[in-house]
Amino acid sequence: MTDFAHDSVVPYKNADQSKKEQVATMFNDIAGKYDFLNRFLSAGTDLGWRKKALKQLESIDAKKLLDVATGTADVAIMAAKQLKLKKIIGIDISDGMLDVGRQKIVKANLQNTIELLNGDSEAINFPDNTFDAVTVAFGVRNFEDLEKGLSEIKRVLKPTGKLVVLEFSKPILPGVKTMYNLYMKIITPTVGKMISKNKVAYAYLDESIQKFPEGKNFITILNNIGYTNTYSKKLSLGICSIYCGTK
Ligand SMILES: C[S@@+](CC[C@H](N)C(=O)[O-])C[C@H]1O[C@@H](n2cnc3c(N)ncnc32)[C@H](O)[C@@H]1O
Repeated sequence: MTDFAHDSVVPYKNADQSKKEQVATMFNDIAGKYDFLNRFLSAGTDLGWRKKALKQLESIDAKKLLDVATGTADVAIMAAKQLKLKKIIGIDISDGMLDVGRQKIVKANLQNTIELLNGDSEAINFPDNTFDAVTVAFGVRNFEDLEKGLSEIKRVLKPTGKLVVLEFSKPILPGVKTMYNLYMKIITPTVGKMISKNKVAYAYLDESIQKFPEGKNFITILNNIGYTNTYSKKLSLGICSIYCGTK
């Protein structure tokens, strides 16, 4: 397996814990403020990004979906409504995020459709060929071993099953790039720290985006793992990207 620069980007620089443990600790810590900060810092745009990602599954008539790194279950809940799915499983390594997600699922009366489980993308606790589709929104950047996670996802996808990844990327247009850097390096960490009371989470966000193998590099990784029909779409001038592949 290849080591990617982002695999070793960690939130707490002086801690002895693995990236996975640090990421779980960080998300447990910010879980209560995560949804608010997402909406606030993206001015609600993240909802449109999630919707567009799920649109990629509208043509495949999926019945069983796995939402990897489900967090507070935004994608799982949206998928239940938008795609009218019968069964959705969400897995995540942060119990704090899952607790918030479970409360939202009850509120949306979707307990019979969505089940959230503590689970690791790099050792998915399901047999081969289980799911028609897998989604990962803003999760792959946090994986400790990107290729292992993406290979595990392929293993649990049914033949011809589809993966949809939504992830931040960096804009390339000069003016947009300058504004983006100002926003991600100054505004986001300052506001994020003030509201979440976590000193590192929103600085880690920028660093992990900077080091992430985005665009063509990510498509190459998917191809090398054996995904077919891979493609990507840029959203909001390249601030975010959708990546898809079929098993
Ligand atoms: C930025 S949040 C995204 C949550 C949600 N998908 C969303 O769209 O808001 C990233 C999530 O990835 C989870 N995560 C990171 N590494 C993981 C892994 N190896 N397996 C499962 N979940 C993981 C974190 O715990 C966190 O909840």
